[in-house]
Amino acid sequence: MPPLIAPSILAADFANLQREVEMLNGSVADYIHVDIMDGVFVPNISFGIPVTEAIKTYAEKPLDVHLMIVNPDQYLEAFRRAGAEILSVHYEACTHLHRTVQAIHSLGAKAGVAINPHTPVHLLEEIIGDIDMVCMMSVNPGFGGQKFIENTYSKVARLKELILKKGSSAKIEIDGGVNLENAPKLIAAGADVLVAGSFVFSSSDPKATIASLKSL
Ligand code: DX5
Ligand code: ZN
Repeated sequence: MPPLIAPSILAADFANLQREVEMLNGSVADYIHVDIMDGVFVPNISFGIPVTEAIKTYAEKPLDVHLMIVNPDQYLEAFRRAGAEILSVHYEACTHLHRTVQAIHSLGAKAGVAINPHTPVHLLEEIIGDIDMVCMMSVNPGFGGQKFIENTYSKVARLKELILKKGSSAKIEIDGGVNLENAPKLIAAGADVLVAGSFVFSSSDPKATIASLKSL
């Protein structure tokens, strides 16, 4: 099975968002990854609901919205209305994660749980059967263009084992520093979805770069 590719719009040219979204429409990307940063959960601010809506206006691919925010429960409905098909919340930001996952599903969206590099996979044991995706951070969230953390390979393998043990259908998404060098090893370890921001948008031919990730 080829990996699913989710280019991160965070690395796009914000002054030409329509053009960038249309480029992704014409590519073999599977999702558009939308990074929401609040300056509290992570030390950076990206954009919010109106910009997500603007992306949705032109997007022909499902929006995979990654909420790097505190109190995500407060904003689930707004992001769903703005066009999110997948809503991922951070394990580290949710005191009542099961309730949050239920809320995402009741909005008719797919539920993802994102984990920071220091968060062990075994903490997902009691929730893995209830979610559609795990967004495994392979950098510390907050910025695009960071260096991939090598420990991710073994972490993916441990998560894959947990998913199989629990009979879960959750997909494994890898987010941060993904490129053509680490992607084959991530897929071999069990990754299903690859997020790629700077590797795609800073390449001379983003569509071809997406296609080369897809063909692994
Ligand atoms: C990091 C974000 C990532 C980021 C990936 O906080 O969650 O989605 O945009 O960008 P690259 O591929 O440049 O690391
Ligand atoms: Zn992300």
